[in-house]
Amino acid sequence: MEPKEECKIKKINVDYSKLYYGFPVILISFYDKDGNPNVTTLSSSFTLMDMVVLGFSRKGYAINQIKEVKDFVINIPDNSLMKEIDFCGANSGYECKKFDMVNLTPVKSKLVNAPIIEECPIAIECTLTDVIERDYYRGITNILANIKGRCISKEYLDADGQLKYSAVDNVLYVGDDKKKVYRYTQSKVSDDAQSFL
Ligand SMILES: Cc1cc2nc3c(=O)[nH]c(=O)nc-3n(C[C@H](O)[C@H](O)[C@H](O)COP(=O)(O)O)c2cc1C
Repeated sequence: MEPKEECKIKKINVDYSKLYYGFPVILISFYDKDGNPNVTTLSSSFTLMDMVVLGFSRKGYAINQIKEVKDFVINIPDNSLMKEIDFCGANSGYECKKFDMVNLTPVKSKLVNAPIIEECPIAIECTLTDVIERDYYRGITNILANIKGRCISKEYLDADGQLKYSAVDNVLYVGDDKKKVYRYTQSKVSDDAQSFL
């Protein structure tokens, strides 16, 4: 088929320096080098099989601790934790122990040396494997980590232990240069992948 010259749906070229097209908000918890639990808010992540990739600003407290201590937990909050999400994303562990400031409870993981956040319905226990820092992506640290375990709230599981897919109630981060917003996934509607084929 010949490529078309024009899109039917008119698209405008934009010169944004960033476009977040909807990434789940996650809370990364860890014990710092002194053994104190701390936590930060992140939206840059993806996972494939037993691997997860996270993107951090290079100077943050969490990433610089995780580079040394290696273990951390990815916690998936729901929309009952908006204040906590905002607080942990606006304050740095260089200045405060965030678990002392918000309604989040660190509980030691049995698999990795990091705390699970009790209030979050999903926790993914990880160990750092790779740190990727490139001069041409200045200020960014990407990490790869190995998933050692996953814990899911009973409310999210059916009688066979399968995930209740439409119960998952992530908060998404959407935005551009001007502002960023939280989008909620409360519709409780889900469709099976490949059900549209
Ligand atoms: C919803 C949300 C998503 C965020 N996503 C990221 C991210 O993907 N990577 C990042 O480095 N910072 C992200 N931030 C900003 C950090 O959470 C923020 O800079 C925090 O203060 C860093 O804390 P730390 O110094 O204790 O690590 C996000 C903040 C919010 C509120």
